[in-house]
Amino acid sequence: MSRSHGIARGLTNYGDQDFARYLRRSFARSMGLSTEMLGKPIVGIAVTPSGFNNCHRAMPELVEAVSRGVLAAGALPRTFPTISLGEVFLNPTSMMFRNLMAMDTEEMIRAQPMDAVVLIGGCDKTVPAQLMGAASANIPAVQLVTGPMSTGRHRGERLGACTDCRRFWGKYRGGEISRDEIDTIEGRLSVTSGTCAVMGTASTMACIAETLGMSLPGTATIPATHSDRLVAAEETGRAAVALINTPITPSQVITHESVENAFRVLMALGGSTNAVIHLTAVAGRLGIRIPLSRLNEISDETPVLVDLKPVGEGYMEDLHAAGGMGAVLRELRPLLNLDTLNVEGRSLAQRLDEPLDWVDRSVVRPLSDPVSRQGGLIALHGNLAPDGAIFKRAAATEALFETEGRAVVFSSLEDLARRIDDPDLDVHPEDVLVLQNAGPVAAAMPEAGYLPIPKKLAQRGVKDMLRISDARMSGTAFGTIALHVSPEAAVGGALAAVRNGDRIRLSVRDKRLDVLVDDDELARRLRDHVPPPQPERGYEALYRQNVTQAPEGCDFAFLVPSSLRQHRNAT
Ligand code: FES
Ligand code: MG
Repeated sequence: MSRSHGIARGLTNYGDQDFARYLRRSFARSMGLSTEMLGKPIVGIAVTPSGFNNCHRAMPELVEAVSRGVLAAGALPRTFPTISLGEVFLNPTSMMFRNLMAMDTEEMIRAQPMDAVVLIGGCDKTVPAQLMGAASANIPAVQLVTGPMSTGRHRGERLGACTDCRRFWGKYRGGEISRDEIDTIEGRLSVTSGTCAVMGTASTMACIAETLGMSLPGTATIPATHSDRLVAAEETGRAAVALINTPITPSQVITHESVENAFRVLMALGGSTNAVIHLTAVAGRLGIRIPLSRLNEISDETPVLVDLKPVGEGYMEDLHAAGGMGAVLRELRPLLNLDTLNVEGRSLAQRLDEPLDWVDRSVVRPLSDPVSRQGGLIALHGNLAPDGAIFKRAAATEALFETEGRAVVFSSLEDLARRIDDPDLDVHPEDVLVLQNAGPVAAAMPEAGYLPIPKKLAQRGVKDMLRISDARMSGTAFGTIALHVSPEAAVGGALAAVRNGDRIRLSVRDKRLDVLVDDDELARRLRDHVPPPQPERGYEALYRQNVTQAPEGCDFAFLVPSSLRQHRNAT
């Protein structure tokens, strides 16, 4: 008698076990399941369709295909919902709900009788949330992504959300294009189901999930509308059943070595700054922490190989046609840990030993002729960011890499909204825009780090300025932007001490971010620091009280293993 298999899995261990089993089977029968089906192992399918999540529009087809694969391999598929996070429809920011989705996913995997789980997600926060939940639940799990959108067309030019959204909006703000044209473009930016068409956060996390080994090889980049995505879904269902027979758990797949590989891939993709936080959070669930100093080593050793927007030119459909992650990983091979294991139980070496038929070298560049010699992201340190800040050098203006300028400070998101376009704002092109109180504790860290260029400067043709904050920015954004400043202003980080007119210095060469004010004066200013008011009830209060800082992944402190909590306190 198997007490922990199929429908009988995880029964409560009190009372009459036989009756509990009898009752559960009886209720399962009410779903029309035959005795034969009830004898099979179960693959749970975490589904996340929502009328507020355009990126998951194709979920029903994917669920059908996964179920087909599960059935064909001899198990019983059971879908279950978790919350879904559609990036642009969530207020105050989707980031506040990533941990909620991770908890929902973890607890429902644990609570319900499944022997393995397929996680279907796509939009920015959903894949990290599902990986975090699956890592903590630690039963066999396979990630499937909804896949990237295909591009639209405007006057002969390809368009993809959302790098082109920002580019055209910038032109509109600067008076280069008309209201009529920006309205027409609105209908041409996001034209299919699937996730943003560029190397934004969703695409980066899809590629990271594949690199970690949590999704099947070759599946990260398949366009959302391509028939191959349904084939991949069917194979994902089969793979989940195979994992029941030969169990491999997320803790065997997500290891120090595979996380380092994922950071390397993040660099080679010129991927999203958000992925640093998400990957840190996923790894943290298993007690793995890659320090920012190691991130910088990886970045300095790893060239950008993939030429996609917002760093380069192409779209996800181009990366897929060019050979996808198989091409990227083969090129990176000399830099990767090759004995990591994926959900098929194969090592990365085994995967990469198989020949690839063709690679488009204009999209996936060779290691010897990269897009740029060094990785897309670096961590900065200095008196303005003692615990670090993130800077996407691949999407920044090189002329601003060694900069000193005068701070123009906005004390909050509201202050920024109120004054950024004020014609009387005292701001010049060589100034540094500083946003305070937009970090995890203050504001759940919205994508406000891409501060708009003040309108009066945009109209004079200013396209970029150094911008600094404790917020995040969208993976589809670009500019000379230092983010995730830690500790954040709300917890008394040095960022809170910056005043209008202070001099700020960025050195990408030295990886430093400093405010040119002496330590005593900074300390004096911080003594007067008043933390912003905190919400008193509900999930928002739970979030603000428990969220960790960006270098720790913005997870809840009570969700990471105690080994990391001790580590955190010790440093
Ligand atoms: Fe969902 Fe961009 S809005 S991936
Ligand atoms: Mg995004």
